[in-house]
Amino acid sequence: MEWWRSAAIYQIYPRSFQDSNGDGTGDIEGIIARLDYLQELGIDCIWLSPFYPSPNKDFGYDISNYCEVDPLFGAMADFDRLVAEAHQRSLKVIVDLVPNHTSDQHEWFLEAKKSKSNEKRDWYVWRDAASGGGVPNNWPSYFGGPAWTLDPPSGQYYLHQFLPEQPDLNFRNGQVVEAMLDVMRFWLKRGIDGFRVDVIWLLVEAADFADEPINEHWHKNLIERARTIHTKIEDQPETHEVIQKMRQVLDQFSSPGKERMMIGEIYLPYDQLITYYGSKEQPECHLPFNFHLITDALDNWNAETVRKVVDEYMAILPAGESANWVLGNHDQFRFASRIGNAQSRIATMLLFTLPGSPTWYYGDEIGMVNGDIPLDRIIDPRGLRQPDVISEQRDPERTPMQWDGTAYGGFSTSDTWLPVNADYLERNVQAQEEQKDSMLNLVKHLLRLRKQHQALSTGTYASQSCEAGIFAYTRQFGDEKISVHLNFGSESRKIDGTGKILASTTMNTGRNDEKIGGTSGLTLKRFEGLVLLDS
Ligand code: GLC
Repeated sequence: MEWWRSAAIYQIYPRSFQDSNGDGTGDIEGIIARLDYLQELGIDCIWLSPFYPSPNKDFGYDISNYCEVDPLFGAMADFDRLVAEAHQRSLKVIVDLVPNHTSDQHEWFLEAKKSKSNEKRDWYVWRDAASGGGVPNNWPSYFGGPAWTLDPPSGQYYLHQFLPEQPDLNFRNGQVVEAMLDVMRFWLKRGIDGFRVDVIWLLVEAADFADEPINEHWHKNLIERARTIHTKIEDQPETHEVIQKMRQVLDQFSSPGKERMMIGEIYLPYDQLITYYGSKEQPECHLPFNFHLITDALDNWNAETVRKVVDEYMAILPAGESANWVLGNHDQFRFASRIGNAQSRIATMLLFTLPGSPTWYYGDEIGMVNGDIPLDRIIDPRGLRQPDVISEQRDPERTPMQWDGTAYGGFSTSDTWLPVNADYLERNVQAQEEQKDSMLNLVKHLLRLRKQHQALSTGTYASQSCEAGIFAYTRQFGDEKISVHLNFGSESRKIDGTGKILASTTMNTGRNDEKIGGTSGLTLKRFEGLVLLDS
């Protein structure tokens, strides 16, 4: 079976993982120094957020050169060594591909801006002003304000779904598609195992440039972008054609045992999301990211909601395709802050015992919480442009990794780009390694179980009854049957269960390996999750 179907993916935000040269920002050398940690943690694959040259208006998601390493993070030789060293430890490496937009400092855009007749002009999306003057239509930017900025010399507007410094590429232009496929080939030749593709569902916009319908339910607590319903800037049929071409490149670089994959960033309802797997004849993403645990469950965290989010997805997943699950990333508040410590353990057990591929965000293994960012340290452009919408702030989930109790949490030796969380003295990797029942040891234990039990990594999934705040399901491979029981409630419960306890979220080591028999009743403590091996 292809590795990506059950791989545990670990997202590294390079700025915040490990600084090796004392400039306060993480770098590639730092990541290399922590590969042993990642191997021991038990993950299968690392995903690196952008490390390419960038003016950093959106912290690397505004790329000025797709085929280089930003000196802030190191040199190409460091990157090559990272891939080699990761592979030596049986870790796959996937990198961020950001095709939707470049930086306004990318040479393509600098050319395109020169004149209406420049040969790169059509690589971006330009429109004349509306007939009455002003922006061409009502399309909104993700980061507040319109998606159009005027280029005074030419009198035309260019499209940007994010910052004005992130102009959208025109994927209706075949040269743009080819250029992006070349970028993919460049990194594939360097030996990477695939891509996480940024905002893949936004690549193409409607050709008629008509206004989007107004969202009647908009209110001022919502982001500005929610003022319209995105029938024109999201999820267009032509986007699928581009993705099919990307997939063909990946397939050309794949061989059995060395498959190259892509996981696409897509925030859409399930029925639209699953279309991004493509078809057998025209495959698309290996894994379209499933963010529904984040978007639909974390704010309403209980057994019924979580079960619904899981079961609706499993029911709609096309035959032959693999599931995937996510609890956090660099755009979302830390889940430990959203649901608290005890429920975080339930969420962790859930993530690592569901079928398919789980994606994990750095630092969640020690239960990192949102950083408390003083007003004068806010630097995320999305947050700065929409200061009244708390949920738009992204600095809190990007603070430096907390390795130990020394100055700067062992992340750096000098002032860091974002402040280290105040709780680093107690909450850090070193402390949790020594503490038997820590979150870190729970994560390691669950990742080990995934490797030891095929029922967990590749087995079938069946949802069980969901009573009194308990979500239970079974995983089965051949004769091996494992059941998972998650008690979201604050009261202990008796459940029917037989077999051997493989894991408890409490990490009560006495409880691991405990044998229980018959249906006389097994007690699930309050907020406890158990993994049982049927015997
Ligand atoms: C994606 C990234 C986000 C970035 C945006 C624009 O959503 O995850 O961090 O700001 O794309 O590239």
